[in-house]
Amino acid sequence: MVSTRNLARLSGLLSITAQAHGAYTIQDSYDASNFFDNFEFFNGPDPTAGFVQYVDAATANSTGLAGYANDGIYLGVDYQTENPTAGRASVRLTTTKSYTRGLIIADIAHQPAPACGAWPAFWTFGPSWPNSGEIDIIEGVNLQTNTSITLHTAPGCSFSEDSFSSEDCGSPGDGTKGCGASTGNTQDYGAGFNEIGGGVYALQWTSDAIKVFFFPRTGTIPEDIEAGNPDPSNWGAPAASFSGGSCDINANFMNHNIVFDTTFCGQWAGKVWAEDPVCSAKASTCEEYVGANPADFQDTYWLINYVKVFGEDGAKRGIAKRFNA
Ligand SMILES: *[C@@H]1O[C@H](CO)[C@@H](O)[C@H](O)[C@H]1NC(C)=O
Ligand SMILES: *[C@@H]1O[C@H](CO)[C@@H](O)[C@H](O)[C@H]1NC(C)=O
Repeated sequence: MVSTRNLARLSGLLSITAQAHGAYTIQDSYDASNFFDNFEFFNGPDPTAGFVQYVDAATANSTGLAGYANDGIYLGVDYQTENPTAGRASVRLTTTKSYTRGLIIADIAHQPAPACGAWPAFWTFGPSWPNSGEIDIIEGVNLQTNTSITLHTAPGCSFSEDSFSSEDCGSPGDGTKGCGASTGNTQDYGAGFNEIGGGVYALQWTSDAIKVFFFPRTGTIPEDIEAGNPDPSNWGAPAASFSGGSCDINANFMNHNIVFDTTFCGQWAGKVWAEDPVCSAKASTCEEYVGANPADFQDTYWLINYVKVFGEDGAKRGIAKRFNA
């Protein structure tokens, strides 16, 4: 038992701690000085069945598909080869480290511009899909104009305070659809994002909530982010928030690697090809279009300034633990 007086002292201590250090402590910082030492090139067959050939580090380097550029990290695709038989060459980069809870902040200058057949994503996922969860932060296909923020889990995880719906994140029984929706904000994705020089995304993942924030470059990036001392309690409304309901976040989301990739066609861009009136008018299949039109993918590249991972503050967690005990 904690006496009332001690409780008051403890909560005083808590707020002092929060003021002095913010709620988060830097764990890893990935930028133009070390990115490729800490992200691995995945070069197996695309798990989403895309018309893509993910290349290894040496090939990406020698063909100019990935490298340090403009003080950031360039991750592009082959925009020169016509009708590549094994799929269009691209890269998929995954952190060597994995994370459970915390705050992931990414400053991104350019996203793959929307193009028929393209399917770029910035996301996190755990080792046993869908049981260890997936969080899609930036994702879209074909000519989509705003990001789709989606969670995927095993069945039995739904949020009552979901920004979009209260659908089970394990829907439709296997997690392939998940829960979430497009944000409706055309500055957070593709052409609208690139026009303003991009911005900063933040994923806040706690035991109680998963939130995604987006700050456009044009003036509203919180000072505490710029200062390296992020405090989400100052940030206002997130772009997406998932909390409440039946979902046990700690049981459904764990050990996530952070990923940037661009694939083509496959289980999403290809699957909805016929439903896109503009794209399907250009070619009868997604693969045919992507193969025949390399020049359409010149702007299909990521330019990342940094990715920073912060852990929940240790001291604060210790005090919270004592309260719960
Ligand atoms: C490939 O690696 C070399 C040596 O590290 C580097 O100088 C060069 O810039 C890299 N190429 C690209 C496209 O990043
Ligand atoms: C956001 O994207 C979805 C999916 O492509 C689309 O239906 C919707 O119209 C878009 N919203 C805006 C405001 O562009």
